[in-house]
Amino acid sequence: MKETLVFMGGVVVLLAGGGLVLTTSPWQAQVEQPIAFNHAKHSPILACTSCHSGVEVGVAATIPQADKCMVCHQAPVSSSPEAAKVKVFAEQGRQIPWVRLFDLRDDLIFAHKPHIQKGLACQTCHGDIGSMARITQGFGTEGVNGLRGRELMARCFSCHQARGVSTDCVTCHK
Ligand code: HEC
Ligand code: HEC
Ligand code: HEC
Ligand code: HEC
Ligand code: HEC
Repeated sequence: MKETLVFMGGVVVLLAGGGLVLTTSPWQAQVEQPIAFNHAKHSPILACTSCHSGVEVGVAATIPQADKCMVCHQAPVSSSPEAAKVKVFAEQGRQIPWVRLFDLRDDLIFAHKPHIQKGLACQTCHGDIGSMARITQGFGTEGVNGLRGRELMARCFSCHQARGVSTDCVTCHK
């Protein structure tokens, strides 16, 4: 009980700070992806939701596989050796093993749909991904530092509180 009270105090302090963006901690290491995907080069030509097609309808946003990339990369759109890797994955019929950067623990409850339906922009929680060549912030994955634990929770919590969305523990914790 004492633990909870101390923690609640932490939330109030963070609320006074007012920050709602989930991703503020710089990563200490750069994640190496199987293909060095570049958001800044794709966002001007394609909507976030056409690649992350789960975002408006379900729990997971989903990360696209080679079949979606090949719609354009069948043609020689880029001379980058990284782009050439897309074709190799497609021809071999292999899944691209993307490393997850924003990954909540399995004992937490989150779905994109209610947030997107309320009109929240991707940027609110992920930062300005569309202008990044490489994603340099996240919740952190194993071996990579990011916003985690109570610090991360405070970001969820403070927005829920500000907007009158449920802050019962069981809303987010299984
Ligand atoms: C709507 C068409 C389209 C789709 C879909 C698409 N790409 Fe591209 N991609 C391009 C174009 C055009 C370029 C060249 C951009 C430039 O050089 O300015 C490019 C460039 C690249 C590059 C080189 C980046 C760099 O820094 O030079 C990589 C790597 C790449 N794409 C990977 C992917 C992957 C992986 C997917 C699927 C998840 C994908 N692309 C889906 C059109 C597309
Ligand atoms: C051409 C397809 C494509 C488009 C368009 C695209 N993305 Fe992505 N996105 C990817 C791929 C591939 C990855 C995995 C590689 C990486 O992390 O850079 C990714 C990764 C991400 C991640 C990290 C997910 C995780 O947990 O690892 C976020 C967040 C994200 N994208 C948000 C966005 C937003 C916001 C936009 C629009 C501004 C956008 N994406 C546009 C293909 C795309
Ligand atoms: C309210 C905060 C919030 C908003 C708004 C939001 N996301 Fe997310 N996103 C998250 C969280 C939290 C996760 C981690 C989910 C998990 O691990 O279960 C995530 C994960 C992802 C992933 C990783 C792959 C996956 O299937 O989960 C991608 C890609 C992504 N988001 C893209 C987007 C895009 C594109 C938008 C805008 C259309 C968006 N997100 C809006 C919080 C948000
Ligand atoms: C709006 C969503 C949300 C609500 C409501 C919420 N939490 Fe959390 N909580 C989270 C997230 C997200 C994390 C971070 C998990 C991670 O690091 O992956 C977290 C982390 C925690 C942690 C730290 C666990 C660790 O190992 O670091 C504790 C303790 C905790 N929550 C307790 C509570 C209690 C008690 C309540 C009810 C008063 C509560 N939470 C309500 C989202 C929420
Ligand atoms: C910027 C504001 C904001 C942030 C940040 C945010 N949420 Fe939410 N959340 C909302 C809103 C708005 C709703 C929609 C409530 C509704 O549909 O009436 C919602 C709904 C939810 C729901 C569904 C609640 C229900 O009653 O069905 C869950 C679960 C949830 N959020 C978890 C999280 C977690 C976990 C995080 C952090 C990783 C988070 N949220 C971050 C604003 C936010």
